Amino acid sequence: MLRHIKVSSKKEMGVTAAGFYKRQLEAKPDSLFAFATGSTPLPLYDELAAMYAAGKIDFSKVKTVNLDEYVGLPVTDENSYRYFMDKNLFSRVNIRRENTFLPDGTASDPGKACALYSAKLEKLGRRDIQLLGIGNNGHIGFNEPADALSAHCFAVTLTESTIKANSRFFASEDDVPKQAMTMGMAEIFDSELILLLCSGTAKHDVLNQAIYGPITTKNPASLIQLHPNVVVIDATGNDN
Ligand code: F6R
Repeated sequence: MLRHIKVSSKKEMGVTAAGFYKRQLEAKPDSLFAFATGSTPLPLYDELAAMYAAGKIDFSKVKTVNLDEYVGLPVTDENSYRYFMDKNLFSRVNIRRENTFLPDGTASDPGKACALYSAKLEKLGRRDIQLLGIGNNGHIGFNEPADALSAHCFAVTLTESTIKANSRFFASEDDVPKQAMTMGMAEIFDSELILLLCSGTAKHDVLNQAIYGPITTKNPASLIQLHPNVVVIDATGNDN
């Protein structure tokens, strides 16, 4: 079943999403979460940090994995997703750093690093909440539109549209890594709940195609229609 919750601002999207984490942690303090990076989840991370500061939420027993990581960026690079997570969430709550896992972007053999990450995901078990954003082209994680998708973590060559979209975080488009490692579709599906956040009018159409249009590998987000428990928090009605 897919629940589509429309909200009127990014802030409300963050607050609504944070409610799912609060309830989940009350029911199961040692939950396993899969997180995402990018602009979309920032209001959620701000809200989780605020809830923690107010003593309303406890991450001490939580474990986390992340959807993806760039190939070639050290963890000290502010564009690496490890750096992003440390800065925007992990350093702001009482999560233990050793309980947080991302693919190893600096590994000399990305294929091997992906296999190791898949093994880690398998060992940690089913995620309680899989957080997703959606790319302008419908990608989830870095599962880009293609004739076929991958079940497990793999090293992907990013599409030009994704490199262009992500260049806003880098000094120039040339600085954007050309490859990333991403959880595959089976791994994204191995979760009790998929929580998809989407904001900004520019993504209104791709989101609606994903949740009401045909299920197609050309819009990888459309596959979430096959998952039994999906919540979409939609702030695409305006740019607030
Ligand atoms: C990030 C990720 C990507 C983003 C997507 C949207 O970990 O997996 O799929 O969710 O590119 O990015 P933003 O939120 O920056 O528009």
